[in-house]
Amino acid sequence: MKKYILCIAMMGLGLKGFSQDVNKGKGVYTKTCIACHQATGAGIPGAFPPLAKSDYLNADVNRAIKQVIKGSNAPITVNGKKYTTAMPPQALSDQQIADVLTYVYANWGNTKKVVTVAMVKAQRK
Ligand code: HEC
Repeated sequence: MKKYILCIAMMGLGLKGFSQDVNKGKGVYTKTCIACHQATGAGIPGAFPPLAKSDYLNADVNRAIKQVIKGSNAPITVNGKKYTTAMPPQALSDQQIADVLTYVYANWGNTKKVVTVAMVKAQRK
């Protein structure tokens, strides 16, 4: 019986290791994204698009994951405004990308989408 409980506890820990963490995501955001997208996700008009209530972000989670992995330099339209500044690819681990995007989706009027490590892995291919 004791072994059984220990086994379940270990499985719990194992699963925790694979899930996304909003607090860690905030840390990644503060280090990596804040300079451009700003503390409230509002961006900077004309240069950096908003992540707060972003129609572009909320419309397609896989596209948002790819955006962080690969960056982009093609013009994109966010909330009706065109942005032509390039975003460089972000050198982050799958875990860090899952954490930071889960944090972004959880805040600022976004859809509360949860981004898992598996979802990030799938977009690396
Ligand atoms: C050097 C500035 C810079 C950094 C750092 C940066 N971005 Fe961006 N981001 C941009 C720009 C510029 C665009 C628009 C790119 C374009 O026009 O093709 C963009 C677009 C986006 C988009 C899609 C458009 C939108 O507003 O919904 C997402 C999502 C995004 N960034 C997330 C992030 C996340 C998450 C991080 C941190 C891991 C990050 N970015 C770091 C500049 C940056």
